[in-house]
This record gives sequence, C-alpha cells and structure tokens, in this order.
Amino acid sequence: MKRYLVIGAFLAIFILGSVTGYFILAGQNSVKTYPQENQLNIPVLIDSLEAGNNIELVIQNSVHEFFSGIKSATKGFSQSYLGPTIRLYKGATTSIVFRNDTEDYTTIHGHGLHVDGKVDGGPQSKILTGEIKNVLLPIVQEAGTSWYHPHLMDKTSAQVHAGLAGLYIIEDSNSENLPLPKAYGVNDIPLIIQDRSFVNGKMKPYVLTNGKIMEDGLREETLVVNGTINPYHYVPAGWVRLRLLNASNARFYRFFLPDDVPFYKIATEGGFLNTPVAITEITMSPGERNEIMIDLAGYNSLSLMAEFLPADPEYQIWLSSNPVQRVLELRVDNTLIAEGKLPDKLNDINYYGQTDMQNAVRRNLFMHMANDENNMFSINGNSMSMDVINERVKKGDMELWTITGDMMPHPFHVHGVSFQIVTHNGQSPSEADRGWKDTLAVTEEPSEILMRFNHSATDEFPYMYHCHILEHEDAKMMGQFTVTD
Ligand code: C2O
Ligand code: CU
Ligand code: CU
Repeated sequence: MKRYLVIGAFLAIFILGSVTGYFILAGQNSVKTYPQENQLNIPVLIDSLEAGNNIELVIQNSVHEFFSGIKSATKGFSQSYLGPTIRLYKGATTSIVFRNDTEDYTTIHGHGLHVDGKVDGGPQSKILTGEIKNVLLPIVQEAGTSWYHPHLMDKTSAQVHAGLAGLYIIEDSNSENLPLPKAYGVNDIPLIIQDRSFVNGKMKPYVLTNGKIMEDGLREETLVVNGTINPYHYVPAGWVRLRLLNASNARFYRFFLPDDVPFYKIATEGGFLNTPVAITEITMSPGERNEIMIDLAGYNSLSLMAEFLPADPEYQIWLSSNPVQRVLELRVDNTLIAEGKLPDKLNDINYYGQTDMQNAVRRNLFMHMANDENNMFSINGNSMSMDVINERVKKGDMELWTITGDMMPHPFHVHGVSFQIVTHNGQSPSEADRGWKDTLAVTEEPSEILMRFNHSATDEFPYMYHCHILEHEDAKMMGQFTVTD
C-alpha cells in the first residue's frame, strides 16, 4: 500500500517534469535543426588481419569540430571523437593494446563479445592514467556488429558521452560468402547514433544537473552520427547496408524512411537473422545494434529519419508528437558501382526449443527505480556493489531469465553471451526479433530470454548485467555474476 502511494507521488512528479521537459525539448528541437549539411564521417577501419592482429588504441583527450571551426572538448580512441572500427575474424585471436592518456581511470568493455570475464573489460579491469593494457580477444562467435566503450564504475556515462565508443565488426565464412554489400564506408556503412546538446556550436559537457536527468537518463536534442551533425553520404544506386548502433546515453529512437518506404532488417546484435524481414520502422534502445538494408535503385536521395521517443511511452497521451530528426541523407551518385544484393537466406540459427526451456535454470530480475535514497536504482533490490556477486551460473547450463522493469522501459544488457527472446514484454517475438541479442528493452510485462554461457567469469573478473541507460547503470542498476565449471 505504502509502496503504491510513494510510486503514485513519484509518478505525479515524473509526469509533471516530463511535460515541462517536453516543451523545453520541443522548443530546443525547433531551433536545433542545423541547416548546414556535413559529409558523414566514416570511422577509420582497422582490419585485424592486415594489422597483424596487433592494434594499439590511445585513449586520449581531444577536441572535435562538430561545427567547422568550433572546437569542443572530447575524448577519443586515437582520434578526436569515437574510435576506429575494428574488424575481427571468427577463429582468430586479436591483441589490442589500450593506452590511457587521460586523467581519468577507465576500463574498455567489448559489448557483445563472447570472451572470458578476464578480457571483457568490466569495472574490475581498470586502466589507470598512463597505463598500457594488452587485451587478447579470441573470437569464436559468428559474424555481427559489437562495440567497445568504457565501463568504469560511476563514470561510464561521462566517458562514453565525451566520445569513447567504437565498433567491432566480426566476420566469418558465412558473412564472407553472402552476396551482401561489403564495401566498408561505401555500401556497408556504420552509423553510431548519439544525441548531444550544443551551445554556440560547442558540445555541452556531461553534467548531471538534477535528479530528473538521472531518472530519465541524459536525453539531448541534436543527433550526432559518427560524430557528424546533419550528415549526408553518397551511395550507389543499389543496395546499401547500414549497421546501426544506438550509442546514446539514454535516448530511444524509432527509425523509419519517409512515406513508410519499406526496408529490410538482416541482423540483430549477435548475428544475421535467418532471412531478411521487411519492415517500415525499427525501435532501438541504447546499446542495441541492428543491420538494415535499403534499396536506393530509382532514388536520387532517401533520408533515414529518427523519432525521439519519450522516457515513458505513457506520456505520449500528453504530447501531440515527438521530435523527428534526420539521421542521414543517402544521396545517390550514379558513378558509384552498385554491388551486393539482398540474399533470400542469411543464417541458420539453431533455435532453442521446449527441452531447453524445461531444463533451464530460472532466474528473475526486477529492475527497480525507488525513492529510497540509498537504494534508488537496483536489480532485485540490490544496488550494484563491486564486492557482491549477485548470481552464479554454471558454464554450459541453459539459463532462462525473466526480466521486468518499472517506471519506463529499461534496456537490459548481459555480458559474455547472445540470447534468444522467448517473450518480449509478455509477447512472442516477431520474426524480426528472432535473432541473437544481448540488449533488450524491458517493461513491467515480463520478458524471458534463453541463453547458454560458454565462457568463464570468475569472482575476480565477473560479468555484468545492467540497464544500458548509462545514468541508470552508473546509479547502480547493475549486478555481477560468475560463470564457472
Ligand atoms: Cu555496453 Cu555492460 O555494457
Ligand atoms: Cu556489454
Ligand atoms: Cu534503466
């Protein structure tokens, strides 16, 4: 009873805050549509084979010109903002050396990688100022799009916001044999999508000014794609493959093409779908990746659009519409050669079945936002503590986790594995969601995921599960687990 009263009061404040928040946002949004268009920045590609499996990335303070001539203070991996795209190969082991040239400690996590806790880059794996850390990544998983970003306790949101994020693209024999568009930056285009605020052209530095920002997560007004504002990119008049990563701290987006032109979803975080699925929109929470394909034949230009979704979809009743911004204008250049097509079949996912479900170890995880000061953000009532192991998993066991979250959708992410969706917010997954995942937005309606952990994580270097709204993660909506024999 008391709990409901408290939640009621909390909700009222929340709704009020959100309504005013919206008008500010709407106002800002209308003035934040920058007329100047910029050529899309394509992150440098480092191919691990060509690099002799030896890669060095310098974590550095820098300045980045989001607007030409105006310098913003940023961080990057050997560049001014974000990091190179690193291409990894299934079956190969890549050595990456991270050198921390910043004043802050950090850790670099491989989000989506199936590697041991020891090289997963969780909060325990600190890289101190001036330190050099060599990480050996044996890649055993199938082709897909993963990413790397800091995971330091309490500092993840600020460090990612400053610019520390980059892509891992994994290839295998299947991805190499499929007739897909494969020319990196030409028809196979990475899109690291973030929201930022600018004051006179300068990126607003990361500050949590009030609890409201912490509750909703930091949600800003201007889309930044690969560090570019209002980008365009020249593409051939054929199939284009976009690798979408929502690397925003907290913002959820609905992506679509004008006039609901259909496009195809071909991959989720951990690999290809079995077959392409035609869709007209795709919603992505922070941490999620999807690959989509668009056919530009017959177009001069086509723009991928993003609707900025509110923190709680139920507020929608108060709003007439959400802000919409262009993610990227694809401009056709007929001198570019169109290559690659949409295959009928992409993958052969071994779907888990009834027996896997029945034999699975069951766990329930409830992602909670309370108004109890000491325990505001928690999972199953426990706020993240680096001294506590919350769950212990046996290597090779099938695991069925039922996840719920209150107040707003929370993107639940788990390290060291890809999972399959059994139910998502109480519903069976559609064909487009029947792929390998590692992040899923959950609500009060239960979501069930099935997975098997095949790598080890010890008490010293455990895996994490957490909300990927980075403000919630830093506020300790996170837990630790081991995987042992
Ligand atoms: Cu993308 Cu535990 O994080
Ligand atoms: Cu992760
Ligand atoms: Cu959350």
